[in-house]
Amino acid sequence: MKPDLISNDSQLNSSGKLIHLLGLKGLPKEQIENILNVASRLLDTQGNLKKSKVLDDMSVANLFFEPSTRTRNTFEIAAKRSSAQTINVDLANSATKKNETLMDTMHTLKAMQIDMFVIRHKKNGLPHHIANNIEGIAIINAGDGINAHPTQALLDMLTIQQEKKSFKDLSVAIVGDIRHSRVAHSDIHALRTLGTKDIRLIAPGYLQYNGEVSNNLKLLDNLDEGISGVDVVVTLRLQKERMLAAEIPNEKVYFDHYGITNEKLKLAKPNAIVMHPGPVNRGIEVDTAVADGPQSVILKQVTNGIAIRMAVMEVLAQAL
Ligand code: NCD
Repeated sequence: MKPDLISNDSQLNSSGKLIHLLGLKGLPKEQIENILNVASRLLDTQGNLKKSKVLDDMSVANLFFEPSTRTRNTFEIAAKRSSAQTINVDLANSATKKNETLMDTMHTLKAMQIDMFVIRHKKNGLPHHIANNIEGIAIINAGDGINAHPTQALLDMLTIQQEKKSFKDLSVAIVGDIRHSRVAHSDIHALRTLGTKDIRLIAPGYLQYNGEVSNNLKLLDNLDEGISGVDVVVTLRLQKERMLAAEIPNEKVYFDHYGITNEKLKLAKPNAIVMHPGPVNRGIEVDTAVADGPQSVILKQVTNGIAIRMAVMEVLAQAL
């Protein structure tokens, strides 16, 4: 599938208010900046999370049809820190296993007076389908297939903003399995909308981006060239579960060409930051010395993920 085929139009109502968060393609800059501002307000000067009462009396259901550690748990923590009740639907043992249709399960959960669904699914566009077929519930896309992962991209933007301030002077390299990465696809939309000067996508041809290119977006297959002088390096996992067996590269060869080591990192700006959405495969896309090194902001991204998810739920609650 080519990225960018699925429309996010139904996430804004006729007065331009955000009623679902389905993807960052087409989401106006003001909406992105508003979520970043709300998230920043939820962090104190040390970067620690505050608590909020904005979701008091509301309930949020986590519907994860694919494995997840950080996204599912940080959504749950975010809802709880915002004073909502949370429900983790046990999908392995749910009625969908007894052949209930997905939409019937959704309507049943709606009848339980749930206000927001957080949905992760391997099918591209599934959260969009649910949003288009159910009313009065806010849908948050927590990752659909290879299409989009908007809250991950927003937490990435918050982390970059904290470290680098302005997007317009930045060079950002995204390295690795871009083709199968919903994170990269959403990062690209966010970086473009925020006016990033120089976006470099670095991958071997068969893992390279196959979406729309533009003046500020370069496709490269050479890591040394791509990483030179950048402010931000975003590394990605090889998403083998989304590849055909024949596409899976030899990990050692891949690491030699695209692995981020301290030696490679020296080519970037001296104060460059290294990011990763997790889960990290050490020694495949990034060396342990880099993942745990002084330029890594990987754990900061995790904390920021809670602030972003609180902010998204706060903004959506205003439209409910
Ligand atoms: C990512 C995902 O699920 O898309 N992880 C995450 O949400 N933190 C990236 C990945 O699986 O590699």
